[in-house]
Amino acid sequence: MIRQITVLGSGTMGRGIAYLAAISGFDTIVHDVDGASLDAAKASIESLLRKGVENGKVDAVSADEARDRVEYGADLESALRGADLVIEAVPEVLELKQELFAQADLFCGEETILASNTSSISISRLAENVERRDRFIGMHFFNPPHRMKLVEIVTGHRTSEDTVERTREVALRMSREPIVVRDSPGFASSRLGVTIGLEAIRMLEDGVASAEDIDRAMELGYNHPMGPLRLTDLVGLDVRLSIAEYLASTLGPRFEPPALLRAMVSEGKLGRKTGQGFYRWDNE
Ligand SMILES: NC(=O)c1ccc[n+]([C@@H]2O[C@H](COP(=O)([O-])OP(=O)(O)OC[C@H]3O[C@@H](n4cnc5c(N)ncnc54)[C@H](O)[C@@H]3O)[C@@H](O)[C@H]2O)c1
Repeated sequence: MIRQITVLGSGTMGRGIAYLAAISGFDTIVHDVDGASLDAAKASIESLLRKGVENGKVDAVSADEARDRVEYGADLESALRGADLVIEAVPEVLELKQELFAQADLFCGEETILASNTSSISISRLAENVERRDRFIGMHFFNPPHRMKLVEIVTGHRTSEDTVERTREVALRMSREPIVVRDSPGFASSRLGVTIGLEAIRMLEDGVASAEDIDRAMELGYNHPMGPLRLTDLVGLDVRLSIAEYLASTLGPRFEPPALLRAMVSEGKLGRKTGQGFYRWDNE
């Protein structure tokens, strides 16, 4: 039975996952090497709880209980000691994650499941430095984790059925909708999402239609809540470019990034975060 979840990394994703864990009844510890990030995570979790109560989505007692369930720990070893499930959400750097998992493997109890929130790195490669490869898995949340329903559970070569089942149960207890995907580049979500995004950019390059009309084709014709170019602006063109390069190197040239994407990234047009991508974001 999973009771305690330790989240490693308290950035954009880590703090959201920690909120979700606490509000779902898990004892939650958030760890980060950066004290300022831990402080910001605490403020963000408090704010989500407060807004939840204001909007009537969370009752005041549950919010108080959730607040009491979260601890913020700067010491890695004590953050890991009592964990039943570790969810890693540190930057997308293979060696950094591998190093952290090697330590988690050392400090955690026998039964503890180690999970990564990676959006692209192979789960089997992340598990290279750990002994417990049967209890190693991908648990890919989406941004922001408390609003996005999907959890992509990624199984490595050695992940056991029991680990998949226990991880699925956690996702369900968090009121998320899990899918199970075999470890392969881009998993299911990034592989399909990036495919549509890249084709939309090629269509823009070819002058097929304006960015607005390409997006409308998917929004109104296919019921996508947001068109692929607007979504690329939100994700960040640089982030999309690096995923496309990784997919091209692993799955083949069909993922080769379009020239327009490379040009926009080199011009610093990264989407919402820089104010300019396929759209201008000055007033939003
Ligand atoms: N941002 C997204 O939309 C998104 C969506 C899904 C998955 N992801 C994945 O989630 C992971 C985290 O992404 P993010 O956007 O939250 O990153 P982020 O940069 O916002 O946060 C990373 C945090 O990890 C901390 N950190 C760095 N080294 C550490 C260490 N050794 N030990 C503990 N903490 C450490 C940093 O201080 C920072 O607070 C990445 O693997 C990313 O690919 C991101």
